[in-house]
Amino acid sequence: MERASTILIVANYSEPNWSGLTNLLAERQGYRVLAADTESEALQLAHDVHIDLAISEESNKGVDGCSFLAGLRVSHPDVMRVLVLAKGSEPGRKAVEEASVYQYLRKPLDIEQAVLVVKRGLETRELARRHRLISREFKMSDESVGFTAPHHFGFQTQSQRFEKLVYVSERMSTLCDLAKTAARTELPILIQGETGTGKELLARAIHYNSQRKSSPLLVQNCGGMNDELLQSELFGHKRGAFTGAVSDRLGLFRAGDGGTVFLDEISDVSRSFQVSLLRFLQEGEVKPLGADKTVQANVRIIAASNRPLTQLVAKGEFRRDLYYRLKGFEFEVPPLRDRVEDIAALAEFFAAKHSEATARKILGLSASLIEKLTHYEFPGNIRELENEIRRLVVLTSDGEYLTTRHLSPNVLAATQRRPAALQNGFAPSSGTLKDQVESLERHLVQSTLQKHRWNQSKAADALGLSRVGLANKIRRYGLAEEGAT
Ligand SMILES: Nc1ncnc2c1ncn2[C@@H]1O[C@H](COP(=O)(O)OP(=O)(O)OP(=O)(O)O)[C@@H](O)[C@H]1O
Ligand SMILES: [Mg+2]
Repeated sequence: MERASTILIVANYSEPNWSGLTNLLAERQGYRVLAADTESEALQLAHDVHIDLAISEESNKGVDGCSFLAGLRVSHPDVMRVLVLAKGSEPGRKAVEEASVYQYLRKPLDIEQAVLVVKRGLETRELARRHRLISREFKMSDESVGFTAPHHFGFQTQSQRFEKLVYVSERMSTLCDLAKTAARTELPILIQGETGTGKELLARAIHYNSQRKSSPLLVQNCGGMNDELLQSELFGHKRGAFTGAVSDRLGLFRAGDGGTVFLDEISDVSRSFQVSLLRFLQEGEVKPLGADKTVQANVRIIAASNRPLTQLVAKGEFRRDLYYRLKGFEFEVPPLRDRVEDIAALAEFFAAKHSEATARKILGLSASLIEKLTHYEFPGNIRELENEIRRLVVLTSDGEYLTTRHLSPNVLAATQRRPAALQNGFAPSSGTLKDQVESLERHLVQSTLQKHRWNQSKAADALGLSRVGLANKIRRYGLAEEGAT
């Protein structure tokens, strides 16, 4: 999000040029300008407010500009520092080495020149900031190998794209269309789905299709972290806030100001941390550990979970109010076995990607390979499919097709899935009419429940039943969620 840059000017305002510069920066350039005429006032401002660039006089009554900027360099290293030298004075060692200033200006102050230095200084700072973010993003992404559109094998599938998501299925197409709409809003987003279904990829696609795309997407995995650590990662801490806090830490919510923070494995956070998150979502404020003041942070939250949150809410492990806050939009990325149409397109995409990355010249994928893949259940979803294809590419020689020859035994053992109606014990061809109708009903109720991950209100809606009606059927047929105790 665009935010006006904030400039702190520490100077003796009885000299006319200073108020001239202040006005020009504020009115013509639209910057937020803070004025201080003593060092202590300047320090207080730097402590309370986010500052992008500081201009300080070398010396006047209340200020030793060099020391002030040198101190600022330590406490706020990414604030650009401009020093204004007295007439005829030369920059000393302190200015060069300790304060490491960006530019000098000399008195009498040339206002236009000063404005130009401020502008360039802010540009440089922004470039440095982006550079840092991009390197960080680059390191975090598991796709750090530069990868552009792969060549096509001319397969029958015409796949669609949403950023890095590849799909052909109707379900993914509907989901991605909604995600594109959701991206343009500011609402928090909750993404659920089994492991390896592409939740993180969807989160990234949403960020890069939002108004926040030129700001960072920062990722925090909330799994297996104790509260204190997570608190300091997200909200930051002050030096000395706890043993080991040797310096201030900004925290992701402030580092990502203007951008998006992706909270992965959100279901893992403790009840007490859920309260902190809820407060942040409500107030948009963070209070670093050990700090006595709160500060604003404008970030959009995208959260993901591979455990269904509604179940955790029902069990009292996840706060209902937080769940509702998080799901401004809610996405359920379907497992691969429920969108078999995507398998061929993805297999082809991964084959192209990995053959290109390893400079293999493979001809394509054999029809029997695609067929085998579509019979397999893929408990690890797309991640598992990608690993499978990556291995096949490595084991296949130049000028050959990928075939079933090197498939993992469990994939190879997959047999054609029974049509959906034959699963779950639905046997329509025996018994009285009543038995068969009941068997069909049992099957339909069970499969609808599974489809909605046992979210009973959704399943009841889909079946046109009331919740009580659905509960009766569940009891009557003794249905229970697989894996639930
Ligand atoms: N539709 C897709 N098109 C291309 N690649 C995909 C797609 N979905 C997932 N992938 C790839 O599959 C792998 C797993 O995806 P991702 O990490 O987003 O899954 P996840 O749902 O976050 O998994 P987990 O719950 O285990 O964290 C990644 O390498 C990702 O690039
Ligand atoms: Mg993930």
